[in-house]
Amino acid sequence: MKTKAAVLYEANSPLVVEELDLDPPKEGEVLVKIGAAGICRSDWHYMAGESFMPLPAVLGHEGSGVVEEVGPGITSVKAGDPVILSFVSRCGRCHFCTIGRPNLCDVHMSTSTTMLDGTYRLHKGDTNFTPMSKLACFSQYSVVPEVACVPCPKELGLDKAAVIGCCVTTGVGAAVNAAKVEPGAAVAVVGCGGVGLNVVMGAKLAGARQIIAVDISEGALEFAMQFGATHAVNPGQQDGPGRVREITGGLGADYTFEVFGSAETVEMAYDMARKGGTVTVVGIPADGDVPSIDAVSLVRQEKTLKGTYYGSAQLQSDMPRMVDLYMNGQLDLDALITRNYHLDEINEAYADLNRGEVGRGVITRFD
Ligand code: APR
Ligand code: ZN
Repeated sequence: MKTKAAVLYEANSPLVVEELDLDPPKEGEVLVKIGAAGICRSDWHYMAGESFMPLPAVLGHEGSGVVEEVGPGITSVKAGDPVILSFVSRCGRCHFCTIGRPNLCDVHMSTSTTMLDGTYRLHKGDTNFTPMSKLACFSQYSVVPEVACVPCPKELGLDKAAVIGCCVTTGVGAAVNAAKVEPGAAVAVVGCGGVGLNVVMGAKLAGARQIIAVDISEGALEFAMQFGATHAVNPGQQDGPGRVREITGGLGADYTFEVFGSAETVEMAYDMARKGGTVTVVGIPADGDVPSIDAVSLVRQEKTLKGTYYGSAQLQSDMPRMVDLYMNGQLDLDALITRNYHLDEINEAYADLNRGEVGRGVITRFD
């Protein structure tokens, strides 16, 4: 079949929206009519040449849709089911899947730029197109692994389903699964975009007493207050770590998060943590942008520096938890989604992200 998709042919040039050929689903795969796709900075890293995958590629890893057709041997979903798409397709058998860390699945990682069987579903003539995260959801239709599908209720809405597929699970999971923020803790979140706002919401759910939003955009800081931030710090205008120490009675924060993706902001989040505090890195810096951490302070101040991928989540069970939290009014995803776009407007959508427009943008029209 044909599908209209946004193609990255070359870094630092606009995505090209064009028609590609899409193969039918093979065994263990399903055809999904994409319902919504989020505008996340992770895609931008490839567009800007900061991260690399074989090109041409169809990006889009924060998505949702409705199952249109299933391949042979599919039992967990059927045509008509709404699904959240997971950007890690856990195999269920590798070391990391069996120890309960499916977000680190080895099989997914070792086939990271193809489908699980090492082949492609998107083509044009002789050219194969890399499907980002096996999802390629900047497209009207996509063939995805069955294991990437997390069924969700129809009442959720496909735009909310899409953001649960990346920024919600990543951000809330960073706070509750990875850092394990405790009631009464002081938290600082460096970078309050789509993912950072979810760290703020996760910290609030965990009962943090202080949630310090840190961002160079005044708009982002103001917006973060709506999601539970109690203080705002702009490190472009003041000494960020110094101000966080002031707010926390001279100590520094118990838990800090880096949610932009740069060496500089990792170092800032590190400096904002108190002695014995935990620094959790969520953002992905450009290849080669390496933070410098003073190992003496790491030892003498007993800080913990850790990374978290995909909210360190149990994907198949944590995503339904996020759905319930939204349905119960404990995660304000309606306020989080601030912009809707047509697939044809994808380059404008990324320009808005880079201009620092607040909240999350989502592509919801694909016709
Ligand atoms: N200090 C503090 N905040 C900054 C800085 C800085 N030096 N530079 C940028 N920011 C802020 C931006 O103003 C913006 O509010 O970081 C925020 C980033 O938000 P988005 O652009 O919406 O990015 P998002 O999609 O949330 O992704 C953040 O998480 O999953 C990863 O790959 C993703 O690395 C990316 C990160
Ligand atoms: Zn993402």
